[in-house]
Amino acid sequence: MSFLLTWYGHSAFLLNVDQHRILIDPYLSGNPMSPVKPDTIDADFILVSHGHGDHLGDSVAIAKRTGATVISNAEICDWLREKGVKTHAQHIGGGFSHPFGYLKLTTATHGSKLPDGTYGGNPAGFLLTTPYSDRLYFAGDTGLFGDMKLIGEEGLDVAILPIGDNYTMGPGDALRAVKLLQPQMVIPIHYNTTKLIQQDVAAWAERVEMETSAKVKVMKPGEEIAIQ
Ligand code: NI
Ligand code: MN
Repeated sequence: MSFLLTWYGHSAFLLNVDQHRILIDPYLSGNPMSPVKPDTIDADFILVSHGHGDHLGDSVAIAKRTGATVISNAEICDWLREKGVKTHAQHIGGGFSHPFGYLKLTTATHGSKLPDGTYGGNPAGFLLTTPYSDRLYFAGDTGLFGDMKLIGEEGLDVAILPIGDNYTMGPGDALRAVKLLQPQMVIPIHYNTTKLIQQDVAAWAERVEMETSAKVKVMKPGEEIAIQ
């Protein structure tokens, strides 16, 4: 088995690669879909895609309690360091070999202001190549962009894409994203958390599987899957 993925609703995930626990966009306390509380969760690393509250989430509290290192863009890392959080800053297009794999920050077309109004740099997605050569793309909050073709070019096992519309790609553009990325599996996120992003995920899954060769995995909050 190569890695485990647990979804906590919205954009929040726990990724397990070997003994490493990596939280992604840990919006837990304010997240109506999250089955877990931030004070019980453990992590070695926390990936933060951008500064918005529904992605930064409980990063500060979790990082301070667990000693986890937050990986994000330089602007967000500066802000976190002032709060006493351990960080590893990267930026768009830059990759680094962490113990859990080679992680690159990718473009996302969105905003990134931090909760107190501080500039949060450019928003990002994450492209991870694990030590077992599995490739995972987490798009973050983004609209559709043509360079998704470049991100998919080297092969993707899993693409995690927002489908909620209003703030990010909606179902139609997310389908076009799947066609550009050509992943083996796609996991829809960032939908049904609030009124403005309600979507019929089953209908979307059916359409994606009809029009592309990707398998769609619709996760339930709290569900853990193994990617091999
Ligand atoms: Ni956002
Ligand atoms: Mn968001």
